[in-house]
Amino acid sequence: MTRANKNVIQLKGLVKRYGLGASEHNALDGVDLEVRNGEFIAIMGPSGCGKTTLLNMLAMLDVADEGDYYLDDQEVERLSSAQRAHIRSRQIGIVFQNFNLIERLTVIENVALPLTYHHVARLKRLEAASEALKSFQLSEREYYMPWQLSGGQMQRVAIARALVNKPSLILADEPTGNLDSRSSHVIMEELSELHKRGNTIIMVTHNPNLTSYASRVIEMLDGKIALDKKLQSDRVVKKPKTEPRKARRSKASTKKRSRGKKKEKDNA
Ligand SMILES: Nc1ncnc2c1ncn2[C@@H]1O[C@H](COP(=O)(O)OP(=O)(O)OP(=O)(O)O)[C@@H](O)[C@H]1O
Ligand SMILES: [Mg+2]
Repeated sequence: MTRANKNVIQLKGLVKRYGLGASEHNALDGVDLEVRNGEFIAIMGPSGCGKTTLLNMLAMLDVADEGDYYLDDQEVERLSSAQRAHIRSRQIGIVFQNFNLIERLTVIENVALPLTYHHVARLKRLEAASEALKSFQLSEREYYMPWQLSGGQMQRVAIARALVNKPSLILADEPTGNLDSRSSHVIMEELSELHKRGNTIIMVTHNPNLTSYASRVIEMLDGKIALDKKLQSDRVVKKPKTEPRKARRSKASTKKRSRGKKKEKDNA
């Protein structure tokens, strides 16, 4: 089996219950899911249908009441909490719906935090964090405290923090929820680039336009997967209708390329 065909994630009949007695309900109600290495999955569905609960399970931040979860062919239930934390810090980047920035740390310290678990020296950690912040146009905010940022800036810091340790599995809960369309596309281009490099991405979104970046769309309803649609082959990412910033910048080179193509045709 090639690496691309390998299952990174396998869920069998996953159930998560919340509440007690009459208020008990299944936030996840028997989820079966296989995710192959290198897929870019967009998860959609109405508020309360279980999207965040599912991401929390996948990140091993919570445990299911029923069912099995295999991550890289390892049964998660059998892993100790230390093993889970180790895998999480090495392999998984999580963008939380509510950012989860640490209020008493500066922006750059927040982004550098995941590298602490990798025993990277402080200066190197700050350099890597600074680099990550630069790609999200946040260099000028490095020494701000989280409360001094706008919602969109906090979100971009949370994304930079999730990506700083170069995880192979990225779990993002509405990573563009607070952003305008231009900033959304900057984030989506970044995720798309990570996807092209072979990483696996699972992203929750309410924005149907953003599903065009994905290779597969899953719709959830009442704690179940209601629809699972493969859009295109992995790592061939279709551009959305709204032209992203990077593409706009390289219009001249696109023109050149299409002129080249015309020449090829004429010569044929
Ligand atoms: N800690 C909790 N305790 C009790 N109920 C919870 C808890 N977390 C989630 N739920 C319930 O589980 C269901 C699924 O919640 P979840 O946060 O997964 O929804 P969601 O699809 O992410 O919604 P949204 O789009 O609004 O973020 C909801 O009915 C919610 O009230
Ligand atoms: Mg949610």
